[in-house]
Amino acid sequence: MKLFDVYPLYEVTPVKAKGVYVYDKKRQKYLDLYGGHAVISIGHSHPHFVRKISRQLKKIGFYSNAIQNPLQSQLASTIGEHSNLHEFELFLCSTGAEAIENGLKLSSFHTGRKKVIAFRGAFHGRTSAAVAVTDNKSINAPLNSQHEVTFLPFNDIDKLEKELAKQTYCAVIFESIQGVGGLDEPDRSFVIAMDSLCKKYGSCLIADEVQSGFGRSGTFFAFQKYPIKPHIITMAKGMGNGFPIGGILIHPEIKAKFGMLGTTFGGNHLACVASLAVLDILKKEHLQEKAENLEIYFRKKAAEIPEIIKVKGRGLMLGLEFNFEIGDLRKSLVYNHHIFTGGSSNKKLIRILPPLTLKEKHFDIFFKALKTALEKNNSTQ
Ligand SMILES: Cc1ncc(COP(=O)(O)O)c(C=O)c1O
Repeated sequence: MKLFDVYPLYEVTPVKAKGVYVYDKKRQKYLDLYGGHAVISIGHSHPHFVRKISRQLKKIGFYSNAIQNPLQSQLASTIGEHSNLHEFELFLCSTGAEAIENGLKLSSFHTGRKKVIAFRGAFHGRTSAAVAVTDNKSINAPLNSQHEVTFLPFNDIDKLEKELAKQTYCAVIFESIQGVGGLDEPDRSFVIAMDSLCKKYGSCLIADEVQSGFGRSGTFFAFQKYPIKPHIITMAKGMGNGFPIGGILIHPEIKAKFGMLGTTFGGNHLACVASLAVLDILKKEHLQEKAENLEIYFRKKAAEIPEIIKVKGRGLMLGLEFNFEIGDLRKSLVYNHHIFTGGSSNKKLIRILPPLTLKEKHFDIFFKALKTALEKNNSTQ
């Protein structure tokens, strides 16, 4: 049987990974500045992560949500401590899109409404409502067009208020730092206005932290740079360091009802210990604080390269913008310098989403390689 061919793949076959490095079958070592799409938070195969999952697997790996699982409550309190959002409640699932789907559904249950406001450049996933609030027509099937979504630009408070005043929207969904969209951020004043306008007109504010959450941006959630309290916060990627886990944090104003949400795999024993291991290491190794310092170092090094026209993002969710398309540059970084980076819908931007255990010396390696790759790129143009 062949695989359904939906991914354009690099010619690299990783067979092992440790810390910030990935190794292929020929034992070639690659510096991982992509983190498997912002997923690897505490480094590949972190010993604490491996130990906790292995020990749990020997006890019980999975049972359905029909039984008591104290690991879920432990995870809820630990996320409460890290985020300082003790009053919120946790629902666990397995992926980012599932978190978004549940968040949107919950906002609709809560408000009794069904329209959603999303933003230009947004990416929220591939399931039905998640892809409908994603600003990319080419990945929406006719089936997904049943959802009623209004796309607005960031930072136009008047337009936002005009829509919300109709009182037909269950939610406004936003990324504090757009991931797939290319690291654009709304202005502070707009985020604050969005929060108060949602409250004024009875809509839920959903902060999509699937990519930016769990310490990557330098705060536990990227929206925590602002004095706001969304109704729903979605999480996934870095939450499990590669073990599939997602979740939503729910404001206590939204009340649970039996059967309202559900999942078979979400919150299983292995997923919970994976996420607890991530939170242990985030705290023990001060990774969130280090992400902030590494951003400063990254910006300093980037300033030495004239071809870089803009540095975007926060913490270790960063982007380098050039005035040319970077497809060949990224290929050169992979094949000639053995460094993984990310792309985005902005074809002129390289995304940097490394494990949070990265050190300054790894950025030195990257910038040296980038200079060489750019020299080659310039000489062939
Ligand atoms: C901001 C954001 N939301 C949601 C998703 C969907 O997550 P998943 O691919 O785990 O379904 C992604 C994935 O890239 C994302 O970046």
